[in-house]
Amino acid sequence: MGLTQLNVWLDAIFTTLYPVIVLALMGHFLGNILTGRAKRRFGKEWAWPHHDSHPPALPKFLHFTHVACMFVLGGTGLFIRFNPISRETMQWLHYVAMIIVTVNLVWRLWYAFASRQRDYREFAITKQDIVTAPKVILYYIFVKPSKPHLGKYNVMQKGTYTLFVPLLIIQAITGFMLWRLQFPIIDTSLQQVFAGLIGATGIWLVRTIHYIINWLFIILTTVHVYLSVTEDFPAFLDFFGLGMFDKRSAEKHHGDDHGHGHDDGHAHEPATAYASAEHA
Ligand code: HEM
Ligand code: HEM
Repeated sequence: MGLTQLNVWLDAIFTTLYPVIVLALMGHFLGNILTGRAKRRFGKEWAWPHHDSHPPALPKFLHFTHVACMFVLGGTGLFIRFNPISRETMQWLHYVAMIIVTVNLVWRLWYAFASRQRDYREFAITKQDIVTAPKVILYYIFVKPSKPHLGKYNVMQKGTYTLFVPLLIIQAITGFMLWRLQFPIIDTSLQQVFAGLIGATGIWLVRTIHYIINWLFIILTTVHVYLSVTEDFPAFLDFFGLGMFDKRSAEKHHGDDHGHGHDDGHAHEPATAYASAEHA
């Protein structure tokens, strides 16, 4: 198979796979409706996981910047690939967002590992997580009415969030290797420098990796958004500064709003560092 053919295959695979994933999520939401989960959550009962505290402002801000940049990067990236007519604006938008997102990533990693409020432990998958993982999956496929609650994030969330980090690092490295901006004076670009080192085929491979990860992000983010809205809508609202639309905020939620036999069954946890949403 020639190298150019692989490009065509990748386009075909991912543009087919993506609608399949969207359909699967719609099917999953149908499951939420049929099992009554949707009604209990979005209906009058407003039965969502209980949170004792809210996420601190900095991770919220960093996540928000992240979301904005990822949308710009995904959108402009696909535009660069599929519509080469007016690429220049899209390239520049990509260049601006890629620098912001890289700084943002470093900042979030610093926050996770080195700040006073470091939270990397929340993302570590423990032995208990692995032992209880099948139960979490059974909950998501509607076999079990509830899932074990161990910490702020469940095992699937931890896995997804942790996967985002190496993916974005590889995306940044491959991306900078593709950068075509001509430097003044030395009159070369990073892409030309790397092409000199790894050759045209090497650059082609780098571009292919960048393109595959682009789709992985689109897919993972779609699932992540779907679950964040359907599994913990109040945490979603709070995370985007829309907490006033949480029906409970009016009632100043006192007491437990779950554990009356509905199926999201989160054991009432003592206050953790912040919200204990359980979506991936
Ligand atoms: C993290 C830092 C990133 C850097 C440094 C970066 C850099 C670049 C560069 C320099 C190009 C080539 C543009 C051109 O042809 O002039 C490119 C293309 C592209 N980028 Fe990024 N990017 C980054 C993140 C992302 C992300 C997060 C996504 C998707 C969510 C993405 C999706 C794409 C796509 C689809 C292309 C077109 C690839 C192709 O033509 O096959 N990029 N990127
Ligand atoms: C519209 C798009 C998105 C929505 C609505 C969304 C929603 C959320 C929500 C509500 C949380 C909070 C979970 C909690 O604290 O219980 C969260 C956490 C998280 N999201 Fe997203 N997300 C989006 C896009 C993204 C993207 C594009 C990425 C990365 C590429 C990402 C990575 C993460 C990570 C790593 C966390 C863990 C918590 C943190 O960063 O502080 N999200 N997301």
